[in-house]
Amino acid sequence: MCGIVGYVGPRPAQDLLLGGLARLEYRGYDSAGLVIGENGVLRSVRRVGKIADLMEAVAREPESFPGSYGVGHTRWATHGPPTVPNAHPHFDCAQEIAVVHNGIIENWVELKTWLEERGHGFSSDTDTEVAAHLIEELGPVSLAEAVAEVLRRCEGALAMAVVRRSDPGLVVGGRKGSPLVIGRGSGENFLASDIPAFMAHTRRMMIVPEERVVEVRSDSVRVTDLFGEESEPEEREVEWDVEAAEKGGYPTFMLKEIHEQPQAVAATLLGRIGAGGEPLLEETGLTGPVAKGIDKVFVVACGTSYHAGMMAKYALERWAKVPVEVDLSSEFRYRDPVLDERSLVIGISQSGETADTLGAVRFALDQGARVAAVTNVVGSSLAREAHMVFQTRAGPEIGVAASKTFITQMALLQLMGLHMAIERGVMTPAEAAGPVKALRSLPDRLEEVLGLSDRMLELAEGWRDVRDFFFLGRSVDYPAALEGALKLKELSYVRAEGYAAGEMKHGPIALIEPGVVVFGVATDRRLRQKMFSNLSEMKARGGTVVTLVGSEDRTEAAIPSDLVIPLPEDADLIGAVLAVVPLQLFSYHLATIKGLDVDQPRNLAKTVTVE
Ligand code: F6R
Repeated sequence: MCGIVGYVGPRPAQDLLLGGLARLEYRGYDSAGLVIGENGVLRSVRRVGKIADLMEAVAREPESFPGSYGVGHTRWATHGPPTVPNAHPHFDCAQEIAVVHNGIIENWVELKTWLEERGHGFSSDTDTEVAAHLIEELGPVSLAEAVAEVLRRCEGALAMAVVRRSDPGLVVGGRKGSPLVIGRGSGENFLASDIPAFMAHTRRMMIVPEERVVEVRSDSVRVTDLFGEESEPEEREVEWDVEAAEKGGYPTFMLKEIHEQPQAVAATLLGRIGAGGEPLLEETGLTGPVAKGIDKVFVVACGTSYHAGMMAKYALERWAKVPVEVDLSSEFRYRDPVLDERSLVIGISQSGETADTLGAVRFALDQGARVAAVTNVVGSSLAREAHMVFQTRAGPEIGVAASKTFITQMALLQLMGLHMAIERGVMTPAEAAGPVKALRSLPDRLEEVLGLSDRMLELAEGWRDVRDFFFLGRSVDYPAALEGALKLKELSYVRAEGYAAGEMKHGPIALIEPGVVVFGVATDRRLRQKMFSNLSEMKARGGTVVTLVGSEDRTEAAIPSDLVIPLPEDADLIGAVLAVVPLQLFSYHLATIKGLDVDQPRNLAKTVTVE
């Protein structure tokens, strides 16, 4: 989420910063900016759009940018839509201090109020701007001390790079929670969110450790902790090529994004759970009176987002005690749904630009329904048109097939279900504490299931020529099964049916014969015996059965299965989310074994803007 880059050295900073930003564009690309210092002057350019737009804007400047130090930023909006005033760098009142930042300052409202009371004027909707004014407020201390103080006072996740007019040739970085690396050149140095920003210039790098401040000059790098204690991070040699570096060392974006799921969920939940374990989602507008005024929820979404909606239905009905219907966006408005001002329509869309979902949401708005958007893209059409916005904060997803955006949608929708339950008065915060705790543990549990990758690779190797797969589940495991089947179809081009396990006997069981592989998702303990009976029926007809199961009483003998994929201990409604990860990995590995392009599967588009 957001890319930052800093440079100090003898070469024109403009070229190095723009080149570095272009390499970091995968981290976000809704707006960008840079600031360059020379001869006691700071000059800045900011633009909405991609780095190419910023490059054009810089080239059009009446005078060239001769400076040899500066910082740049490519934005992926979190606070405030993508506009020029919200683009980084952000300045203090005197235009002396410029800050670029990646992450979220959770207590920014409190800090902003305090700074405004002390006379500071703000010109953006961002959380970042408080950092610039806070440094100004600290007065004549060294820039490194000021950044350390910012890190101490700001809660949340931050990586920042700062320049000050009165400190020529110096870029100061700070890290707490978000990544920051140093590139060591000869007579020049770099600071960046990620290695690709400087890989064309140097392969010598250092990782800035947590809660550290770094002073970067052309001939030196000094790292201190938040209290000024100096340390020397280990220098390393980057061995990847540039393309691999953008993918964080993974061979594809898809695999990187699958592995980013724990951090992505952590970012989704960041600042949204209170000290007492209560969901904090009031800022979305889903307040008590609004939640109490809802009679019925309609979820509209497509593809993977639709599967997230199907799963969320269980959370919303079970916890918030509100009836929920889930519709494919492309079908919704053609069935004359009955909506009024007591209906809540939740549009789920990673991109926020899917034409079918926008059509469904616009129809709902016309009928007077209240609309909530669950999206990963701030400022997307869906976010702009909805009354309430729930942002998933998964970071940019480049692989065309959805992975981390799905898992974060699930985490956020479950939190929304618990929040609604409390606001509607049907659950006490104490009753919600258990499910909230389970949600909090989701990043660790996701880390555990990522450990199944080799096992799924083995299976994929063994089944590279299988032509027919079934994915079965009951209740909340059913949408997990549908998602498993969708991933296999789109990544591996193999026929895969997702089905409700109990429904197989009503027809599709006729397709089961030797050679067919059946994945059974069995995380719902209430239905486990019924699910096992359904899987026995598949096995009895010659199908090869793989069961994904997680429970304290997992006894392999009782499971009618050729193979068992063990999931972590069950938690209500979380198990099905976890089951999706090994299924993503299976599809990924099978596609790779077949030599297919997993990042850009044939016939697909990341954002589907046609009906
Ligand atoms: C599947 C996939 C698609 C999208 C669908 C909706 O891996 O990526 O099925 O889920 O096109 O896209 P959004 O969520 O952007 O509305």
